[in-house]
Amino acid sequence: MKLLALLGVFLLVGVATSQDGARLLAAKNLLNEYLVEGKDVTVLYSIYNVGSSAALNVALTDNTFPDTDFNVVRGKLSVQWERIAPGSNVTHSVILQPLKSQFFNFTSAIVTYLPVEDGAEKSTFTSAPEQKGIVSLKEFDKRFSPHYMDWAVFAVMTVPPICIPFLLWSMSKRKYESSGVTGKTRKN
Ligand SMILES: *[C@@H]1O[C@H](CO)[C@@H](O)[C@H](O)[C@H]1NC(C)=O
Ligand SMILES: *[C@@H]1O[C@H](CO)[C@@H](O)[C@H](O)[C@H]1NC(C)=O
Repeated sequence: MKLLALLGVFLLVGVATSQDGARLLAAKNLLNEYLVEGKDVTVLYSIYNVGSSAALNVALTDNTFPDTDFNVVRGKLSVQWERIAPGSNVTHSVILQPLKSQFFNFTSAIVTYLPVEDGAEKSTFTSAPEQKGIVSLKEFDKRFSPHYMDWAVFAVMTVPPICIPFLLWSMSKRKYESSGVTGKTRKN
């Protein structure tokens, strides 16, 4: 009888802990529209606790960027939070530089946490940006370089101020010359 009661208590605790506790949703996003070899790419991780209690010992680990393909410029690919309160978000960002132009499959990072104190560790995957093309700097410059745009804007803006005075000057010069000529002809 005592044993049965004890078992019941354990069962209840088990049910309670599986229903309550923290539940984390995690996203991984690339903030750059174009991925270019040798140029900074920002990866943003967002973790949202949709559960009913704080998530403890939260660890985000992203092992999906091989050294041969990416340089870490700023930030860490492994980060911890002691606790994430229910209903709250945390974000983390890392700046990387792709070393190669290629199609790269950006896959999920892993988040581990304790949904309740002294409970079993849980893990969840972040969303994945998936396959993206990384273009070479040359290709990017050829097609999208802002310098070309700058030069075009510069050209359009500088042409009228230079040309209009020149046109006016050459027109008045011609008028003056032609009137001079007619003056001469009148004299003669
Ligand atoms: C957390 O992020 C989610 C998804 O981006 C958003 O819907 C929610 O409003 C955010 N909550 C807080 C408290 O910032
Ligand atoms: C990218 O990787 C994910 C996970 O490994 C896989 O399911 C998906 O099919 C891959 N996509 C491509 C285009 O290879």
